[in-house]
Amino acid sequence: MIPRVKGTQDFIDCTLFNFIIDAIKKQCSTYHFTEIQTPILESVDLFCRSLGLYTDVVSKEMFIIESRQEGGEDRICLRPEGTAPTVRAFNEHHIQTIPWKVFSYGPMFRYERPQKGRFRQFHQVTMEIIGSGVVGEDVQFITMLNNFFSKKLMVHNYELIINFLGCADDRNAYLGILKKFMDQDDITHTICAQCLERKERNIMRIFDCKNSQCQELYRNAPYIADNLCQNCSTEWNTLQQQLTATSVSYVYRPTLVRGLDYYNKTVFEFVSKNLGAQDTFCGGGRYNQLVEQLGGNKDMPAIGAAFGIERLILLLEPLREQLAIAHPPTLHMIIPMTQAQHTTALLLADTLHAHDICTDILFEGSMKSMMRKASKAGAAYVLIIGETEQQTGTVMIKNMTTGVEQSVAQIDIVDILKK
Ligand code: HAM
Repeated sequence: MIPRVKGTQDFIDCTLFNFIIDAIKKQCSTYHFTEIQTPILESVDLFCRSLGLYTDVVSKEMFIIESRQEGGEDRICLRPEGTAPTVRAFNEHHIQTIPWKVFSYGPMFRYERPQKGRFRQFHQVTMEIIGSGVVGEDVQFITMLNNFFSKKLMVHNYELIINFLGCADDRNAYLGILKKFMDQDDITHTICAQCLERKERNIMRIFDCKNSQCQELYRNAPYIADNLCQNCSTEWNTLQQQLTATSVSYVYRPTLVRGLDYYNKTVFEFVSKNLGAQDTFCGGGRYNQLVEQLGGNKDMPAIGAAFGIERLILLLEPLREQLAIAHPPTLHMIIPMTQAQHTTALLLADTLHAHDICTDILFEGSMKSMMRKASKAGAAYVLIIGETEQQTGTVMIKNMTTGVEQSVAQIDIVDILKK
């Protein structure tokens, strides 16, 4: 047996997956988003330029595919996320509808160490708004997500954490302030090896360190939200006021920086203790420079987020009974008693399928075992065709709930089952 590739999974039951997709499609359309799809294959360069060379995703986790074509086509990879591809599509198609509110979903790939809720192939729903920089847009967007998780999916045991990373100038000034803090001897000599490396390459990521000694030290670190310019400070206050006004509960987490370089201003995550170590099920924020960085227009502010379907499924599994999951259609089973009745059974099934009546045929087994299979499959009616029925153009129909059997004409079956 050849097993599945490490870090991937089979969805043997797609009920919750499809429930989430159907629900987010409805939610997005209510909030005026349209659906797009971008390719799974993208150029490596797209992610180097957007996520940042020193992020974990780009430096360690890319699935890069060697091009078969000689002569140096761009190096290509399996996409690790959906924001950079959305911005690429926005630029490439010269989209003029501003703001462009779009969502998409599909598989993403990251070469991570697999564990509960963390896969190498996983699925994200990505939602982006390109071309609006107003704080109200952030609030409407976060409210949409919050309403989705709490009211549509009935997930309750989660927290929304937010932070404000300021504009590009704030960030540059802050990096100097943070560096000065980190350069203090007692800090440099105490922090872990990973933080030492991050200090040199991607200093704000030190706040993601799980080491308790490092975390203790960073309690006294300067925070970016305390070092904002006047404009950003006003926006940060407005964001908090409007979230409160729209009754969105949130927690300010000054150390939330997110793992990708393109963020500025508002950043947020939805986290749940029910998920264990991989507790973030949705993350996002503003990326006001990305459109320009990827070759598009200069003033094109944007905000977006993505949630992981696998992690949401983990949260929904215990709530399955409470969810308004659409029931599968009522099944009816045709049982031809011998091979001589197979053709009649096929023709009858064809008629029922043409009327959108969910039907299957059991071709093999003794009468007893076929009846058992029909019952196990949840059939409402069983349609038995033996030699007599075949000759007389009838069918023996059995109500599987009451056990009542009745002989009826084959031409009346559609009407009977429709009733
Ligand atoms: P991200 O935080 O890297 O952000 O991923 C978003 C979500 O994808 C996570 O919160 C998690 O639920 C899920 N996820 C990430 N990695 C894995 C994994 N290895 N296994 C299972 N689930 C995973 C982004 O990708 C940004 N593009 C979000 C964004 C959109 N920001 C602005 N617009």
